[in-house]
Amino acid sequence: MINLKRLGGILLALALTAALAVPVFSAVEDTGFSDVDAGAWYAEAVAYCRESGLMAGVGGGRFAPDSTLTRAMLVTVLWRQAGSPAVNYLMQFDDVPEGQWYSEGIRWAASEGLVRGYGDGRYGTNDPITQQQLDIILNNYLGRTLTQGIPGFDGSAAPATRAQVAAVLLNLSQVGTDAPSQEGRTLVAYFSATNNTEHIANHIAAIRSADLYEIVPETPYTSSDLNYNDNSSRANQEQNDPAARPAISGDVEDMAQYDVIFLGYPIWHGQAPRIISTFLERYDLTGKTIVPFCTSGSSPIGSSARNLQSLTSGAAWLEGQRFSGSASRDTVASWVNGLDLNA
Ligand SMILES: Cc1cc2nc3c(=O)[nH]c(=O)nc-3n(C[C@H](O)[C@H](O)[C@H](O)COP(=O)(O)O)c2cc1C
Repeated sequence: MINLKRLGGILLALALTAALAVPVFSAVEDTGFSDVDAGAWYAEAVAYCRESGLMAGVGGGRFAPDSTLTRAMLVTVLWRQAGSPAVNYLMQFDDVPEGQWYSEGIRWAASEGLVRGYGDGRYGTNDPITQQQLDIILNNYLGRTLTQGIPGFDGSAAPATRAQVAAVLLNLSQVGTDAPSQEGRTLVAYFSATNNTEHIANHIAAIRSADLYEIVPETPYTSSDLNYNDNSSRANQEQNDPAARPAISGDVEDMAQYDVIFLGYPIWHGQAPRIISTFLERYDLTGKTIVPFCTSGSSPIGSSARNLQSLTSGAAWLEGQRFSGSASRDTVASWVNGLDLNA
């Protein structure tokens, strides 16, 4: 008896490999697809994907640049570009049976830590890959996304198009996968009294697939503690006392595993709250890259980060960035993705 599901998978696998049979062509004069104009921004990327057998057309001489592709297809093309490695790894996804056209690609991706699935045991095999998910997978793979500057790409929950994925694959062929990509894990550590900084920290953690750590004061700040118009309020007293070190509740689990630390705080009277000093003095941060960020009503980051640097030795500090508490994910992403974290 013919297993229709499996037959469908085989046909799809054939569609993905069909390009191997197509003769190689050089300049993008004729893309070979009736719906890919030689002048389109993705023409070169589509030609590359076709020549290298990474992505074929959808039949009928068309590439369908604006259509979507499934999560399984995306991982399969990344796997092919990696040379279709065979790995021995036990996958835990309920919706990835053995022996499907995509099984080995997803097994490889899981073994490399590229794919996490939905957390409910499903990988989401047949769901269209979203731009956000593509960024996360690339980040897990390379420590960066390669999606900057791709037209129409904003890292949102909108599906990524085949043209955009082709552009990613072309970028990937140019940067390679080994070189400077393998930085260690990233931690986003932040203090936030009224959740503005937390909002930005959440964005950064999502963009970098980083761990989050909230710096929680042992004694929480009440709203009268935060009254900046009252000279005797707790926050103001602490800011006026360079030696103040408000106690922190809890610890970062295994700080040694992190290479990059994004450190977030609100601006209090032009500076970081003293609890940030408590945090920095608590750990050995030698060899780590620290990337400060802050939120404020209007003040710039000013001298706040510079003044914190003297509390750490042997850490590399990058230029910090101030955000408004309501900054969008895109705003945060364009800063994060522009950082040179491999330096
Ligand atoms: C004690 C105190 C001092 C502040 N000083 C400044 C300041 O100097 N400049 C400024 O622009 N905002 C100042 N603010 C506003 C905060 O920086 C701003 O609301 C910030 O986004 C709060 O972040 P959070 O919600 O993460 O705590 C101050 C707030 C407090 C509570």
